[in-house]
Amino acid sequence: MVTRTAATDGAAVEITPGVFWIGALDPGLRSFDIILKTANGTSYNSYLVRGSEGVAIIDTVKENFSMTFFRRLQSVAGYDEIRAIVLNHLEPDHSGALPELLKRAPQARLYISSRGAPMLKGLLHGDTLAYEPTQTGTTVRLGDRTLRFLQTPFLHWPDTQCTFLEEEGVLFSGDAFGCHFCDARLFNDAVGDFRFSFEYYYAHIMRPFRAHVLEALDLIEPLPVRLIAPSHGPILRDAPERYIARYRELSAPGLKNEAADEKTLLIFYLSAYGSTRAMAEAVAAGAQSMSGVRVSLYDLEGGEVAPFVDLIEEADAIAFGSPTINGDAVKPVWDLLSSLTAINVKGKIGAAFGSYGWSGEAVPMVEDRLRGLKLRVPVPGVRARLIPTPAELEACREFGVNLARHLTGRIEKRSIDMAAPT
Ligand code: FEO
Repeated sequence: MVTRTAATDGAAVEITPGVFWIGALDPGLRSFDIILKTANGTSYNSYLVRGSEGVAIIDTVKENFSMTFFRRLQSVAGYDEIRAIVLNHLEPDHSGALPELLKRAPQARLYISSRGAPMLKGLLHGDTLAYEPTQTGTTVRLGDRTLRFLQTPFLHWPDTQCTFLEEEGVLFSGDAFGCHFCDARLFNDAVGDFRFSFEYYYAHIMRPFRAHVLEALDLIEPLPVRLIAPSHGPILRDAPERYIARYRELSAPGLKNEAADEKTLLIFYLSAYGSTRAMAEAVAAGAQSMSGVRVSLYDLEGGEVAPFVDLIEEADAIAFGSPTINGDAVKPVWDLLSSLTAINVKGKIGAAFGSYGWSGEAVPMVEDRLRGLKLRVPVPGVRARLIPTPAELEACREFGVNLARHLTGRIEKRSIDMAAPT
C-alpha cells in the first residue's frame, strides 16, 4: 500500500522515521542553469535528520524559497537543536538559505567537502566562515544516528559529496539520482512518470563526468541503501537499487570498437563544391595508411548530431573539415562542436582543415574551439584556396599521416643540435 504523503500544506514530510523532507517545490521553473529545460518545474529537496542528541540539516534551498524552507524546518525542530548543517554541494540552488540558517542556528557546525572551500568563499563574498572539511569516511554522530560522508566529486560540481545515514540506510545523494520534476506527492512510487526527466538530467548533468560517476558508484554500491534522497525530484524509496544500476548502465562505455587495439579517428566535413570533401578523403587516406588507426568519414550534411556525439565520446581523435563562408565555419560544424559540452572530450586529439575563397578563417576558429574544449591540437590545420591542387591534397594526406602518428605514439623524435644557430 503506497503512502500518499504530499507536500501540500507547508509542513515537513516524514520520509522515514525521524527523517523529514523540508524542501521547496518550484512548479513554475521552465529552465535551469539557463541551458536545461524543466517542463515539470523542479524541487529543491532539503532534509532534517533527528538523532537522540541533536538535529542535522542536509542541504538548504534556493534563496527565494527560504521562507518555505524555514517554515517546514520549524514545524519539526527548534533552531537550538541543530548541531550539524551539511551541504552536499554548494551550488546556489542548495546553499541559498545557508547564510540565514547560520544566523538562526549559530551553534551548528557546517560540514562541506574539503573541495568546497573556494566555492564557500565565493558564495559569502569574502566573509570567512568556520566549517568542517569532510573526506570519505568522515562521520558525524547525533547520538543514536550517524552520518557518513562519501566524496563524489563532479556529481555535479567538484565539491559534491553524498551523505549516508547509516542506521536508516538513507543516501542523501545531492544532484546524483535526481531530476527536475516537481510533484507534491514526493515519492517515486507516488508521483507521475518521471523517467524522461531522470534520463534527461543524467544526460545533461552527469554524463560529462561519467568517469567520476563510475568512481562514485564504486563507493555507493556496497552500501545497504534503502532510500535515496536526492536534492531534486522524487525521493527514491521504491527499489532504489534500480536507479543505482541505471547510473551504472548509463555510465558504462557503449558498443565497443570491434578492433579494440586500434585508435579511432572520426573525420567530419561539409562541402559546398566538393573541395573540402576531397580534402577530407585525402586526410582519411593518409591516416588509414598507418597501421593501428581506424578512420571513419562522415558528411555532416547527411547526419544527425546526437549519434555523432555518442561516437565522439568513444573516439580518440576528431577532425573537422569546414569551408569558410562569410568569414566563419559552417553552422553544422558549430552545432556539433557545441554539443560536445555534454561529454568529456578532454585530452582527445582534435584537428581542422578546409577550403576557402578569400580569407579562410574557419580552420583557426575551429582549432580555437577545440582547444577551448580541452582537446589537444598537435597538428596545424591545412587550408586550400578554392579547388585544392595535387600538392595541397598531398599536404592533406600528410596531415592525416601526422594525426595517425600522434594517435599511435609514433611521432618521430626530433634531435636538437644545441650548437646549431637558431
Ligand atoms: Fe542542484 Fe548542481 O545543483
